[in-house]
Amino acid sequence: MISFNKPFLTGKETIYIEEAVASGKISGNGMFTQKCQAFFEEKFNIKKALLTTSCTDALEMCAILLNIKEGDEVIMPSYTFVSTANAFVLRGAKIVFADSRADNPNIDETKLESLITKKTKAIVVVHYAGVACAMDEVMALATTYNLFVVEDAAQAIDSYYKGKPLGSIGHLATFSFHETKNIIAGEGGLLAINDEQFIDRAEIIWEKGTNRSAFFRGEVDKYGWVDIGSSFLPSEVTAAFLWAQLEQLDSIQKKRKEIWKTYYSALASLGVSNDIALPYVPNYASNNAHMFYVKCKNINERSGLIAHLKAQNVHAVFHYISLHSSEYFKEFHDSRELVEAETYTQKLLRLPFFYELTIDDVSNISTQIKKFFNEA
Ligand SMILES: Cc1ncc(COP(=O)(O)O)c(C=O)c1O
Repeated sequence: MISFNKPFLTGKETIYIEEAVASGKISGNGMFTQKCQAFFEEKFNIKKALLTTSCTDALEMCAILLNIKEGDEVIMPSYTFVSTANAFVLRGAKIVFADSRADNPNIDETKLESLITKKTKAIVVVHYAGVACAMDEVMALATTYNLFVVEDAAQAIDSYYKGKPLGSIGHLATFSFHETKNIIAGEGGLLAINDEQFIDRAEIIWEKGTNRSAFFRGEVDKYGWVDIGSSFLPSEVTAAFLWAQLEQLDSIQKKRKEIWKTYYSALASLGVSNDIALPYVPNYASNNAHMFYVKCKNINERSGLIAHLKAQNVHAVFHYISLHSSEYFKEFHDSRELVEAETYTQKLLRLPFFYELTIDDVSNISTQIKKFFNEA
């Protein structure tokens, strides 16, 4: 069976974990944590990076930092992972879901302004498949209406908008190192802070609401409870694993981009004949080869293609169920139809994608897809 995902190990993970353990500093915010954070700050032009136990936790930190409270409205795409919304719901926010673009699953920036009210506090964008949202338009709205922007960059490491690294544009941003991502730590995440006003408080929230980080830097002579917070920082074991991956970012990305391009050219004829739609990357966006998806004509065709591929030992999977129509949220959603989000819920199919997938595998999977459409 060709699985949908297979975590890739560079080989250094356990060596660095042994180093972390031997150092006697195994809890968080040690040498490996600092290396990973500095890597993000330098390479991706982020003012302050804080490693977290997941992207979900980084999003929860964003909601606390923005002082989200009962009744505040937060606009975000419906076609996203539950954590994007949950983090703000936990603080009492009212989520206002926006539709996706017709040409890719990112939030449709042209539909945002009509959703802004006096209660709107933030816009959360999700760079789906690592492809940038239209950030100039989103940031301009934020300036006009005095809103904060959070980039959910869970899938968007090493991807760019008009040359700017994703995660460096919004006031805050979050990354994921879950084992399905380009760079992994099993579970793990990172909060990127680009608006300096949030830096000091973020460190406190990160350390259970205490000023322990300042204490260890010698800035205060005792530490205690100064704000709300939680245990958002991972141990050095996770950070050591992550460092082994970050060191190899360029070679991992090179290989993933080859796989992506091979899929794209192998399936191009199906795009031309309109049997499926291939991923669209706008000119302003780069492609970090996080995912390869196709868009089928309807849900029945997608189910047929999944079954066909499964019979050939290929595991392809669909993605999000739009949150506005989810079991939990549907009773809270206003009656607006989110046509494009529903389209991706029903038609988008993700193909196997991981570092060790061979070019032969990609060719075989593509041939099977063409056979399904009688084109091979
Ligand atoms: C868009 C998006 N946001 C948030 C998350 C949550 O990431 P994590 O599993 O690191 O909490 C994911 C996970 O896949 C995601 O795709």
